[in-house]
Amino acid sequence: MLVRRCHILRLEPRELASFDLAGLLAGGTGVSSRMQWFAHAPHLDAAVEVDVGDIELLGSLGPHDWTSAVPLRARHGSTRVQRLLRAGLLVGRGKAWTQGRLADERLREQHWHASAALLHADSRWQGVDAVRENAATGLDHAAGVRERFGAPPPAVRERRQQGRIGLPRSRGGSFDELLDARSTCRNFDTSRRMLPRAALAKMLERVFGARARVPAAAEFELLKKTSPSGGALHPTDAYLIVRRVRGVAPGLYHYDPVAHALDPMPWAGGEAGLAALARTAVAGQDYFADAHVLVVLAPRFARNFWKYRDHAKAYRVCILDAGHLSQTLFLSATEQGLGAFITAAINEVDIEQAFGLTGYVDGPLAVCGFGIRAGTMITSELDPNRKVWRTRSA
Ligand SMILES: Cc1cc2nc3c(=O)[nH]c(=O)nc-3n(C[C@H](O)[C@H](O)[C@H](O)COP(=O)(O)O)c2cc1C
Repeated sequence: MLVRRCHILRLEPRELASFDLAGLLAGGTGVSSRMQWFAHAPHLDAAVEVDVGDIELLGSLGPHDWTSAVPLRARHGSTRVQRLLRAGLLVGRGKAWTQGRLADERLREQHWHASAALLHADSRWQGVDAVRENAATGLDHAAGVRERFGAPPPAVRERRQQGRIGLPRSRGGSFDELLDARSTCRNFDTSRRMLPRAALAKMLERVFGARARVPAAAEFELLKKTSPSGGALHPTDAYLIVRRVRGVAPGLYHYDPVAHALDPMPWAGGEAGLAALARTAVAGQDYFADAHVLVVLAPRFARNFWKYRDHAKAYRVCILDAGHLSQTLFLSATEQGLGAFITAAINEVDIEQAFGLTGYVDGPLAVCGFGIRAGTMITSELDPNRKVWRTRSA
């Protein structure tokens, strides 16, 4: 059989600490630690523990050329070769290893920059409850963060210089009013009040809809949208968790930006399951899960990386694209009198499983949401100038 190393591989020497009762009783710290090598490969679900013998084998193989497994088995032993094939760190051409080979090939087809792929894989969460974790560590309020970390770097970097030029303040107009009314909403109306379908449609049209189709070359179409996008490639897809919209059944949807249509996706969990998914998606932040609509921003990475192949800036561009879409979503919601949010504290793996995504092919970078604001503020919002809460009770 022929084998090669998987496409992207990084080794990490990690210190593992464990409780050591005997050591504690003997007057020690009660913590013993050992060093362990871990292999990170973005097409795998988790890092794999490896030993020095594994590293020697993996270091002897390139990721491109196929080589016979016979001398490898003779030199490193069949068990080791077998174990690394099973782990997905070695890729085999044999029938038994088809699944691992296809996963590795799929990653290759995306043209990820290696460091970006590793960062993306390592920063994905599954089943994390950020609210509970923050409460446990006292990081859920400003005073707690201040106490734990001391004072932060100042809000403004002063570079006061002779020759400083004071700038005129503008008079302000309707656009300033819109900008000033933008605020992260953590209080959605959870009564039976539904978001009108027209409001949902307007939001999607403005934020994600194609305003024009531009033929760039043969079989290469660009879309014009309201937000900028690196290379005009607009790789970010909008996956929706619709909770309370009149005339749209609660469920999962994918938005088609050209047809301006919602395509339902399989969902067997009912409304209760949908509520649970929304909560998991935003890592336990109920105040965001309550939104009438949640929008998962998930780039099809290969659409950007098709042009910016193995490029050190390409992943950064995908993240920046998502940020632009978020601000357009905020302003569009504000203009309609709706509340909106964005969060990066998300359980990517759970979201991928719900929508049938594959992380390194089309993975969530953030979750936004929008809906009707509540009449009363329960969870705090940053509205010092009372642009949102002037007519509502805070
Ligand atoms: C990328 C990004 C991630 C955020 N993640 C969270 C989050 O996980 N939870 C949350 O309550 N707010 C989150 N926020 C909202 C910020 O806390 C909020 O923007 C900030 O407090 C300023 O308030 P404002 O948006 O009302 O001006 C996030 C904002 C951004 C831009």
